[in-house]
Formats: sequence, structure tokens, C-alpha cells
Amino acid sequence: MKDIKILAIETSCDETAASVVQNGNKVLSNVVISQIESHKRFGGVVPEVASRHHVELITIVIEEAMQEANLKPEDLDAVAVTYGPGLIGALLVGLNAAKAYAFAHDLPLIPVHHIAGHIYANQLERKLQFPLVALIVSGGHTELIKMNEHLDFTVLGETRDDAVGEAYDKVARVLGLPYPGGPEIDRLAKEGEDTYKFPRAYLDKDSYDFSFSGLKSAVINTLHNERQKNNPINEKDVSRSFQESVIDVLTEKTLDAIISEDVKDLIVAGGVAANSGLRGRFETLSEKHGFNLYIPALKYCTDNAAMIGAVAYDLYLKKHFADLDLNGQNYIDIEEFSF
Ligand code: KG4
Ligand code: ZN
Repeated sequence: MKDIKILAIETSCDETAASVVQNGNKVLSNVVISQIESHKRFGGVVPEVASRHHVELITIVIEEAMQEANLKPEDLDAVAVTYGPGLIGALLVGLNAAKAYAFAHDLPLIPVHHIAGHIYANQLERKLQFPLVALIVSGGHTELIKMNEHLDFTVLGETRDDAVGEAYDKVARVLGLPYPGGPEIDRLAKEGEDTYKFPRAYLDKDSYDFSFSGLKSAVINTLHNERQKNNPINEKDVSRSFQESVIDVLTEKTLDAIISEDVKDLIVAGGVAANSGLRGRFETLSEKHGFNLYIPALKYCTDNAAMIGAVAYDLYLKKHFADLDLNGQNYIDIEEFSF
């Protein structure tokens, strides 16, 4: 069978990314320009700033991805793009670039759900085996998803308020740490102890939903109270205590899902999958309970376009193409993205 080469574009948040992927698993190029430096001084992603950067960078990353793959437009079989969920202004930049490219070169346009991309990032390293459970943890998402086969998504649980990464970034900010705060807290936590015993929000017994805003408030209130009393704050212990609460809830709910859904494979992806404490706990659980743990390489865990190209291949095989009136959506239920 002919090799299928897809140009994929991703601009849902603060990474401007383009990639060419062959047959859904061979990365011919993977270009990512992160805007972190621009957003750092604001302590988080500013949507309007993100959109403007995407406009400046989008044609550059597409050209670079094509050059790195050593391909001409006529060598491509399709153009894929993230159409949601994400920041609407940011999404629209990638979407319009993809539409223009597809129209100009008479290529089919493939719409891809961002979270499906995070799961399929694994496919760039090994074939997905079903059924599987995927835990997606990033600055914008906290989702526990089950897949019985390709392009079949069931949401088991999701956050009812803040995403995990968002909680990390906010706690870090109150601790006076730079953005993004996740890696900073992770680093401090290694040297601290869980002395503060912050709450664990398990919600209803049978729910796989998450909630992190109560934990975030508990940490911030503790810091304010201690500061008012002029008490010294042990940042390492605060970081460790916060992180332990996050890890307990994430891993216990995920393990429950693996056991009750009778699944052997767990995928963990998204920026927070870089967390050393979370990885360590999942590794221990995987040995103890005998499930397989897959965490993609960091470059495929954080936002990138190769993961979008990985999903797009399966959509290409099913001829799931979009018209040029495809619109971006800041929220799309992933269950609606099952085919
Ligand atoms: O997937 P990602 O790069 O972007 C999206 O949000 O889509 O995730 C970024 C998030 C940020 O909130 C960042 O603080 C968090 O991932 N993060 C971490 C670590 N590295 C990045 N959180 C905890 N521990 C880390 N080592
Ligand atoms: Zn993401």
C-alpha cells in the first residue's frame, strides 16, 4: 500500500507547531515553537498574545516542517489540523492556515480533536493496544478516557474545575516561582516532605471526576495565613505536600478505572506527565498491579503537531474529511469525536 503523508498543524494554546507524519507513526518532521518566554512575564498564557504569535509564526513552522521532511506539497496526501478544544483565537490561526494550504494544493482537510492527539502521541512510539485507559494531564485538561478501539473514546472522568497543570501554575505563582510552575514545584518537591497534609478531593466514591480548586485554595490560604503571622514558609514542604495530594488522587482514580474496566494498558500524556513524582508512583503501581504503563517522550507529551498527524492517519483511512467551512471550537466533547 502507498505511504500516506500528512501535514499536521497545531495551534490550540501557546505552541505553534507543524509536522509531517507518514502512516500515522513515522515522524518525518516535527517543528514546535513555544511562546513560553513571551507569556512568562504575565505569569500565564494570554490568549490574545498567543494568537498574535501564531499569526507571525504559522507560515514559518509549516515551511520548516516541509523542508525538514524534504517534501513538496504535491507529495502530501492530506492536511490535518486541531479544530478544538483550545483557545478560539489561537485555534483559528492554525485552522485558516490549514484550510488555505489544503485549498491551494487540492488536498483533503482532516479535523482533529486535541485530546485525541495527546492519546495518539503514543502511536508515534508503539502501536496502541485496546482496550486502554488514558490519563491526559496538562495546563488545560485533566481527563480519564477509555478506548475500546481506534477512534472510540469514552470519558470516564474529567476535572470539574481547574486542570492539574493550572493548579500547579497558580500555586507556583503564589510561591513566587516563575511560569510554568509545574517543573519548579516538581523540583522543590523532591527535597521536601508532606508535612502540610493538604486535602485530597475524591468527590463521590464511584466518580472518576477530579477537582483541584479546593486543594489550590487550601495551599494559597495556608501561605497567606503563614505570611500574615510572619511564620517562615518551607517552600519545599509546601511543594511536596501539594504534589502528594495531586498524585494520590490522580493515581488512585486511574488505578480504580484500570481495575474496574479490566484494562491492561495505561497511557499518561500531557505536560504534567513530565512530573517525576507522578511517573514514579505510576511505575510502582504498574509493577504491583501488573498493567503496562506508557508515557510518550516529553517532546510528544507536550503540545506538538506530530500527535495530530498520528490521529489524522486513522481518519484518513476512514475518509473523514472536513469541508472548508470547518470552524474552530473552544470545547468539543471527545465522545463526539468517535467514528
Ligand atoms: O501539555 P502542556 O505543555 O500544555 C497544555 O497545557 O496543553 O502542559 C503544560 C502544563 C503546565 O501547566 C506546566 O506547569 C505543566 O504542564 N508541567 C508540569 C511539569 N512540567 C510541565 N507539571 C508538573 N510537573 C512537571 N514536571
Ligand atoms: Zn495539550
